[in-house]
Amino acid sequence: MIKQSNIFEVYESNEGKRRQLFTVNLTPTQNVYGEKLVEQDGAEYREWDAFKSKLAASILKGSPNIGIRKNDAVLYLGSASGTTASHVSDIIGSEGIIFAVDISPRVMRDMVFLCYNRKNISPVLADSNKTDMLKERMSAVDVVYQDVAQKNQVGIFLKNTELFLKKDGYALLAVKARSIDVTKQPKQIFKDARQKLENDLTIIDYRELEPFQKDHCMFICKKNSKG
Ligand SMILES: C[S@@+](CC[C@H](N)C(=O)[O-])C[C@H]1O[C@@H](n2cnc3c(N)ncnc32)[C@H](O)[C@@H]1O
Repeated sequence: MIKQSNIFEVYESNEGKRRQLFTVNLTPTQNVYGEKLVEQDGAEYREWDAFKSKLAASILKGSPNIGIRKNDAVLYLGSASGTTASHVSDIIGSEGIIFAVDISPRVMRDMVFLCYNRKNISPVLADSNKTDMLKERMSAVDVVYQDVAQKNQVGIFLKNTELFLKKDGYALLAVKARSIDVTKQPKQIFKDARQKLENDLTIIDYRELEPFQKDHCMFICKKNSKG
């Protein structure tokens, strides 16, 4: 039985010990990455795989609020071919918009195909570290979501939240420890990241993402008067 979860526009089922997340499919009959489609009471739901999506992993690890709502404008840095972005697209609905930024032309090709069906995603082939280029193609957004495997992940995130995130907006950062420093313990890297984030943003939630995603964590932040 699929039912509303505690998070806006996110649904769940509980079979035995297994909790499974879903979003309502914005493009019925079409799946994106091989996920299961389930019909119930006239609605079609897409299974959301936490082993393929750090945002789903963060919810299953207990995040009580992901800060993404219907009709939001979202800047998504590191969208790849759209696995997680497609679920964000379901959450924000047809009146919302995602600017889906990725540096890789190969994954952006798949993203462009996805955008033919999902009209609320706008593909942007760009380096998220080069905000001068992004500035020409972006408006202010309600949410910044970042998942880029770069050494200076935190710096890129802070630059983009400062420039594009509205006051009181939410900013989600998936940190991949191994991309920052393979020689350091992930926990130390997460601690260092926290210190840098706290200078500019208010951290409202933090989750380590094992067993779904090894050596990753998620910070959910809010831009307030400090930002
Ligand atoms: C782990 S994948 C993202 C997966 C995706 N967020 C999801 O959950 O479906 C990381 C992506 O970051 C992109 N990337 C790496 N450096 C980047 C940069 N400087 N600007 C934009 N994208 C970048 C890579 O091309 C890759 O597609």
